[in-house]
Amino acid sequence: MEKSEWIWMNGELVPWDDAKVHVLTHGLHYGTGVFEGVRAYKTDRGPAIFRHRDHLERLQKSAELYYIDLPYSLEELREATHEVIRRNGLDSCYIRPIAFRGYGEMGLYAPTAPVEVIVAVWPWGAYLGEDGKRNGVRAKVSSWRRISPDSLIPHAKASGQYLNSILAKTEAAKAGYDEAILLDQNGVVCEGSGENVFLVREGELVTPGHTASILDGISRKSVIQIAEDLGYTVVERDISRSELYVAEEAFLVGTAAELVPVREIDDRDLGEPGEITRVLAAKYEDALHGRAQEYLEWLDIVEQPSKVTS
Ligand SMILES: Cc1ncc(COP(=O)(O)O)c(C=O)c1O
Repeated sequence: MEKSEWIWMNGELVPWDDAKVHVLTHGLHYGTGVFEGVRAYKTDRGPAIFRHRDHLERLQKSAELYYIDLPYSLEELREATHEVIRRNGLDSCYIRPIAFRGYGEMGLYAPTAPVEVIVAVWPWGAYLGEDGKRNGVRAKVSSWRRISPDSLIPHAKASGQYLNSILAKTEAAKAGYDEAILLDQNGVVCEGSGENVFLVREGELVTPGHTASILDGISRKSVIQIAEDLGYTVVERDISRSELYVAEEAFLVGTAAELVPVREIDDRDLGEPGEITRVLAAKYEDALHGRAQEYLEWLDIVEQPSKVTS
């Protein structure tokens, strides 16, 4: 990964190489952390963090769901993020806030283990590659089932839960595919290992609804709104595995990957990125980069040093 200079750690900026934790950090042993993946894009008005408030609110919700009290307010975390982007001099970057139980108490019930918070930022290109964004990726239905709400909390973005995504992604990568698509215990389609999934069926957009074991993706929400604003019908409902194979178009959306067409699922050809996918991808790119007037309210602009009054 590409380093930057500073990481915001527990209230202060620390040089990248010094941002360290103790080996008995609770989160390292048990996965007791909650995090976000956020992006800032270069715009005419400076780096713009896409739907920052939504990401911070989801972080807080994930923390609550796992009994982690965030020691900073969302406004403090927002300011910390602005500060670390500014100090690193980045125009655009990936942003990783994480709150985790630190060093101090072991065992599964460790309410006195301190909660540590860091915000790291660094340059990171499209997660599934620029070629994938342009021409589509090859996906494979995973043999691993998506975590169920009977045993974990799919709507939380918690560190330990990602072992499920890692098993699926690793299986897919080792078999030569770009991404995995996970089904739930009943064989209903959930999502990619790090993205939500959309299909086009008979000209309508279809995506799993909130009762599915999905992360309630912020990109998903944005694409639904853009699609509806463009006049498309979006249906949130269960999707069967076989529908993946007969879809007219399919694409994945997530902060790290952005909007990525799927050109093949389980070696079944879906063809070049279709028209609806291309229209939505173009509008979504405009929204991310501050070129869509109607979605400017989604951007949290990081003020530049020259504009900051001392
Ligand atoms: C499992 C999973 N599903 C969906 C998403 C997409 O969520 P978002 O659009 O909020 O990045 C992500 C990425 O955070 C994810 O990890």
